[in-house]
Amino acid sequence: MLAGLDEIAGTGRDAQRGGYSRHVWQAADLELRAWFIERAERIGLAVETDRNGNIWAWWGEPGPDAVVTGSHLDSVPGGGAFDGPLGVVSSLDAIARLQASGFVPSRACAILVFAEEEGSRFGIACLGSRLMTGALHADRARALVDPDGITLADAAARAGLDPARLGTDRESLERIGLFVELHVEQGRGLIDLGGPVAVASSILAHGRWRLTVTGQGNHAGATLMADRRDPMVAAARAVLAVQDTAAARPGTRATVGRMNIVPGGTNVIPSSVQAWLDARAETDEETRALLGEITAAVEAVVAENGCSVSVVEESWADAVHFDPELRDRFSAVLGDVPALATGAGHDSGVLTASVPSAMLFVRNPTGISHSPEEFASADDCVAGVEALEKLLRTLL
Ligand code: GLV
Ligand code: MN
Ligand code: MN
Repeated sequence: MLAGLDEIAGTGRDAQRGGYSRHVWQAADLELRAWFIERAERIGLAVETDRNGNIWAWWGEPGPDAVVTGSHLDSVPGGGAFDGPLGVVSSLDAIARLQASGFVPSRACAILVFAEEEGSRFGIACLGSRLMTGALHADRARALVDPDGITLADAAARAGLDPARLGTDRESLERIGLFVELHVEQGRGLIDLGGPVAVASSILAHGRWRLTVTGQGNHAGATLMADRRDPMVAAARAVLAVQDTAAARPGTRATVGRMNIVPGGTNVIPSSVQAWLDARAETDEETRALLGEITAAVEAVVAENGCSVSVVEESWADAVHFDPELRDRFSAVLGDVPALATGAGHDSGVLTASVPSAMLFVRNPTGISHSPEEFASADDCVAGVEALEKLLRTLL
């Protein structure tokens, strides 16, 4: 393991779920942020936090036209050790190696650590980059609420930010000449290609929707089976409808990974159930079509159970095609490494709408991610750092 990953291996471990739960501005995330700042300052970088809680560490004078690299430190609930931190740690290591070799950059350079990439606390993924680019309006962000009822505005204030200043940050954005995110691969792509490193070609279109199934709360013992309008049963059938609909459309993906049963008592027929749908496909149109079909199927099964359902979009991300010229240039610098498509969302994808950006993937021999089984070998992590160092050397 890279030394940096070792240093943070004890932070944010989740004893119940396994793996890590590092959610924005909560204790583990704050600890990781402090660790990053200390680590960056130790190699002489000048650290600042922007108006949206993204951390910048500058090697030399800040932009314009800077080469910026980085990723995120937050995780999904019960996530792996590599998704996010690998890119942050590799950025620190690549710059330290350049420094040690006596390399003097002729262009500004920074590491950027994005806030709330996973959307695990406030529900919207890539929050830091969406706020910076204006893809998410500050008013909407401020009003987001975490599972404990704390608004994003309050959480940001408690973390030392000014909630009134959240939002589009042209000044920061305009300093980025080019962004590169190194990331652990999240599928089997590199296992099958037999190499340690790839460049990214595209990201699936994806979105999140909140389904609220409403029935009649009642007594588990006093209510005959025939008299029930049970939203849990309706929601269970809705999940099967989600699965069947996506399975029938090749290449599409749909997941229900989170549910909230209200009120949630063993001897209580629930009154409502919230379920969150994550749906993805190659194009925006295909994803919208998938959602339309899922919605129709869910409405039908829910009605059969005497319940009703509302479907509310919480976030949306267009399909991303990384600039092919930049991708091919990077691939050539690295010795013709392959280009891989991914089904996972990234801040680098959000940035493509505003600045040239690219990604490097490091092989994950388990092919598993968003789980404690996510992995990258020490040798492959080093290959990733070497690739990033090589790219920075060419770009700087
Ligand atoms: C982020 O990892 C996502 O793809 O949801
Ligand atoms: Mn992730
Ligand atoms: Mn990630």
